[in-house]
Formats: sequence, C-alpha cells, structure tokens
Amino acid sequence: MSLFAPPGAVAPASVRPSSASSAKKRARFHTLTVEEVRPLTDDSVVVSFTVPAELADDYDHLPGQYVALRTTLEGSEVRRSYSLCRAPEHRTAEQIAEGMPTRLSVAVKRDEGGLFSTWAQTGLHAGFEIDVMSPQGTFTSGLDDLDHRHVVGIAAGSGITPLMALAHTALTRSETSRFTLLYTNRSTLDVMFLEDLADLKDRYPTRVTLHHVLSREQRTAPVLSGRIDEEKLRTILGMLIDPSDVDEWFLCGPLSLVDLCREVLADVGVPREHIRFELFTTGDEPVRAARPVEVRAGAKTIRIEVNLDGVSSTVESPVDAHESVLNAALRVRPDAPFACAGGVCGTCRARVVEGSVTMTENYALEPDEIERGYVLTCQSHPTSDRVVVDYDV
Ligand SMILES: Cc1cc2nc3c(=O)[nH]c(=O)nc-3n(C[C@H](O)[C@H](O)[C@H](O)COP(=O)(O)OP(=O)(O)OC[C@H]3O[C@@H](n4cnc5c(N)ncnc54)[C@H](O)[C@@H]3O)c2cc1C
Ligand code: FES
Repeated sequence: MSLFAPPGAVAPASVRPSSASSAKKRARFHTLTVEEVRPLTDDSVVVSFTVPAELADDYDHLPGQYVALRTTLEGSEVRRSYSLCRAPEHRTAEQIAEGMPTRLSVAVKRDEGGLFSTWAQTGLHAGFEIDVMSPQGTFTSGLDDLDHRHVVGIAAGSGITPLMALAHTALTRSETSRFTLLYTNRSTLDVMFLEDLADLKDRYPTRVTLHHVLSREQRTAPVLSGRIDEEKLRTILGMLIDPSDVDEWFLCGPLSLVDLCREVLADVGVPREHIRFELFTTGDEPVRAARPVEVRAGAKTIRIEVNLDGVSSTVESPVDAHESVLNAALRVRPDAPFACAGGVCGTCRARVVEGSVTMTENYALEPDEIERGYVLTCQSHPTSDRVVVDYDV
C-alpha cells in the first residue's frame, strides 16, 4: 500500500487544523498497537500504529517530526527515535465525531549490530504493543506559505523518512510548489521508498524532481555515481539544483553529509535560516541515559531541582559522579523526557532558571534557544552548587 493518501484526501491549507502547538507538545508515552510491519528493502521495514480517537490530539504532529519507541529488550529498557514518514492526516469533523482512528508510520533501517533496529526487522509484528512517545522535533518549519516555493530535500539512507512526510506536505498544501530530492544510497536495492517516490513523481510530474545518487552502482550520469563529497556537491549545485531557485532546504543524514551540505550551501550564499537539518546519530558509541549513581552519606553534592508538569522535585548529585542533569533527574522523576541521550534529538530540552551548567554536545538546539537559557539536560553538567531546570517553559 502506498504511503501517500490518494489526491483529494488531503485538505487544502485553509481548512487544515493548525498544528503549530504540536512542535512543542509535552513528550508523553502511550501504549499503541502495531497495525502492520511491512518490508521496504532487505534491511528496512515500515511500522504502522493505530492511534485510537481519544489519543488523536496527543499524536497530532507536523511533517518532519519524530516519535520515540520504548520497549524492553534483553532485560533492559530501550528507547529509540524514529521520524514519522507519513504526513499528518486530515480528518473531517464528522470522522473525528465517529471516532475514526489515525495512523502513524515510521521506517526502521537495520543498523549493523544495532539492538532495536535489528529486533524491529525480526521481532516486531502486527498486534505487538509498544510505548510510543508523542511526536517531537523542530525539523518542520518553513512550510507555511508554499505557493510558488521550491523545497529541496537532501537525504542519505534512512534520512529519507522525515523527507517523505515533508515532500507530501510541500506538494499537497499548494498547487504551485515544487519539491526536489537529492537522495544518496549505496545501490538501487538500498533505496527506501523507491516506489513511493516514483508514485510521487508520477502524480506531480512537473513539480517533483528526483536525483538518486548511488555510491556503489554506476549510473548513466557520472555526477550521480559515487559518494557525495564537496566536489560532487558543488557540481550538482552547478548542474542540477540551482541554489538561487530554492526557498527551503531540508537535510537529513549522517553528521558528515549534513555538515558538508551546510558548509557548501552557506558558501554559495544560502542564508542559514533556510537550511534545516536533522541528525539521526553522531556516529559516537550509544549512550545510556540512566547510569546508577550512589549518593554516599557526607559526600559533597550539587542540589538539582526539576520542575516538570507543574511539580517540583529535588535530587542530590554527588560532585564526583560527574553525572548529567538528566541522569540525576531520572532518580526522582522517571517521567523526565528523553529519547537519544546523545544530544541529537532535543527531547530532553529544559530551561535553566537558576544556577549554571555546561553542555558537552549539542546537535539539537538553535543559538537563540541557548541564549534564552535552554539546555539539553542529557548533555548538561552543573557548574554551580544549585541548579533549577524547568521542563514546562
Ligand atoms: C530524531 C531522530 C530520528 C530518527 N529517525 C530514524 C528513522 O526514521 N529511521 C531509522 O532507521 N533511524 C532513525 N533514527 C536512528 C534510531 O533512533 C536509532 O539510533 C537506530 O535505529 C539505531 O538503533 P539500534 O538500537 O539498532 O542501534 P544501537 O544498539 O543503539 O547501536 C547503534 C550503533 O552503535 C553500534 N554499537 C552498539 N554498541 C556499541 C558499543 N558498545 N561500542 C561501539 N559501537 C556500538 C552498533 O553496532 C550500531 O552500529 C533517528 C534518530 C533520531 C535521533
Ligand atoms: S535525549 Fe536526545 S538530545 Fe537529550
């Protein structure tokens, strides 16, 4: 079944419910039932969930957002983030009143040696119940006024998933918008959503342009064969995608490709505010969010106060434990939001309202958020004797 609704099933922009608030919705888990696990390529599957009508508001989302999935594997809790590959569905007032369920879909690609993504190919099946966090993420702005706008997505491998939702939205919200995709994979067999992308091109032949770059397969055009390095990217921008004709850029792939694209695009004059990016991983070893820390009597500690859902909780963090604010917070507030624990997704964002912290990594917050006092609690280490963080602001 195609990922995209047939033409006409999506409401015009004027009657689409505004979802601006869903970008900052509180992260909450609910248990959802897996409706279908569909193979996509040899090493990827699309997993779809049914959202009951009473939870529809919690899972209202914007294109480009992700959910975190939580389950227990090998005796431990595992959380992983996956971008929603299906564009938000529009339901009429009648359908809402009739309690029509909505559907969420994610696409999981097996990461060699990866715990969750390997299990998702073999252990996950229809009927399985799994905890799904309400959608999060800011890889979504810039799509308000799409008339005569040209949106370009650059993706590698599983980085295509949020772009599927973004492409669909960009093309259905306006009849004059255009979408161009530069998508790199090893070979044709690795291309996720190959048929869905071809369907999109068939449906909007003059508004969609697809460029598949294959690193281990020879294509007729040399520019579309081999790895994307700086030289190839500059050639592509010279021959296939004219940056001066593009309004919004969405990048999703490994850190090296995203960094390369951001640098080259800035160098050819694309303003930073029109380049959005989402990282799935930094390539570093996976991090554990909640490592056990013992608070010994008489040990020097830092007092951390956490405001979450209107309730304030306090925890002592031993100075010599060098733990993150999130690590400490989870001892008294197991509901403190987090997903990747690696500074990538932004789910653990909170504002420092008293005291100070230093952040190890930050791939998720914008400079203006940092200026306003926001931090990633999974990466924050106190630098004062007392720290107060607020997750509610
Ligand atoms: C916002 C966001 C959206 C995302 N969207 C998607 C998506 O749409 N689709 C998708 O497929 N992925 C997506 N991801 C990535 C996803 O969350 C997982 O990181 C990915 O599936 C790997 O999880 P895993 O449990 O299989 O691997 P993990 O077990 O976490 O391992 C990751 C890698 O580290 C290696 N590794 C494991 N342990 C060690 C160790 N001790 N030392 C060294 N190396 C080790 C593994 O071999 C593997 O290569 C997204 C991530 C984020 C942050
Ligand atoms: S949990 Fe992902 S950035 Fe902190």
